[in-house]
Amino acid sequence: MDRTSRIYVAGHRGLAGSAICRCLRAKGFANLVLRDHAQLDLRMQSDVDAFFSSEKPEYVFVAAAKVGGILANSTYPADFLRDNLAIELNVIDAAYRNGVKKLEFLGSSCIYPRHAPQPMREECLLSGALEPTNEWYAIAKITGIKLAQAYRRQYGFRAISLMPTNLYGPGDNFDLQSAHVLPALLRKAHEARANNAPEMIVWGSGTPRREFLHVNDLAEAAVFLMLHYDEAEIINVGTGTDISIRELAELISRVAGYQGRLAFDASKPDGPPRKLLDVSRLQALGWKPRIGLEEGVAQTFQWFLEQERKALVTT
Ligand SMILES: NC(=O)c1ccc[n+]([C@@H]2O[C@H](COP(=O)([O-])OP(=O)(O)OC[C@H]3O[C@@H](n4cnc5c(N)ncnc54)[C@H](OP(=O)(O)O)[C@@H]3O)[C@@H](O)[C@H]2O)c1
Repeated sequence: MDRTSRIYVAGHRGLAGSAICRCLRAKGFANLVLRDHAQLDLRMQSDVDAFFSSEKPEYVFVAAAKVGGILANSTYPADFLRDNLAIELNVIDAAYRNGVKKLEFLGSSCIYPRHAPQPMREECLLSGALEPTNEWYAIAKITGIKLAQAYRRQYGFRAISLMPTNLYGPGDNFDLQSAHVLPALLRKAHEARANNAPEMIVWGSGTPRREFLHVNDLAEAAVFLMLHYDEAEIINVGTGTDISIRELAELISRVAGYQGRLAFDASKPDGPPRKLLDVSRLQALGWKPRIGLEEGVAQTFQWFLEQERKALVTT
């Protein structure tokens, strides 16, 4: 991939896709071919074929997916499975048939078995039963990985797959109905401070440990791997360190300036006790993240405040 290459980022308005575009542009890769969901529905095979045959991108990042939390997954299992399978199949197949030089598929750490030994190594893929709450999404993502590997094996198509850990950062979803834990806590702490609330409720016991990667670091890794990695095996992308939900809530309270009490609602589900990626393969290639968690959360909080200000101006 060089500065003049035609690069298609599928899902460029999403959390990961928008960060990949920012990162590419910052590094001088300016020849981006972009279509949002309304312009190109990646579930529609003939539209995807027509796009690839007219635009002829040379490099493809697949950051488009139907993404959602536990509730969405359990309410719409058919949609999660069908939409993600269709997106992956249409994009990977059209990319191969239209001479794309290299494709990078974004998976997720939820592809690993529910009881995978921690930290989770790439080898534990398909070694046990999945977490039932998101199995529809996970099965679709595993199929995407297998498609990439099958096209590489049968056709020599240069497709790679990376498995990011939990992401956060500018562009995140702060809607309390559907947000992931980190942006949800940021919003709650902000509102608790604004309302002088004596306590802030945190779901679960606070003991589970999770890993968080700033989306700008994910984008750096995605570009690094496009340039320097060309193997069939999947590769984990994370920080290699985790934090308990209690510690995270304390950190977020500090950042948001909330000084009230944290109350843990143990009636809400905790999920697995620990989810941490083994990132030794990525580190052995010479890549590591740059943004520390407190710095990243503070920067994300500033972005959130900025969006709030903009929303106030327009209403
Ligand atoms: N966020 C995380 O913590 C995380 C962690 C690990 C891995 N990942 C992976 O990273 C990838 C991107 O996730 P994300 O968090 O960036 O999700 P996101 O913010 O929801 O972005 C997904 C993008 O895909 C687009 N899209 C969905 N369906 C489409 C369709 N049928 N046609 C065209 N575009 C479509 C969406 O457009 P609309 O919004 O217009 O539908 C959106 O721009 C996923 O593969 C996910 O598994 C994310």
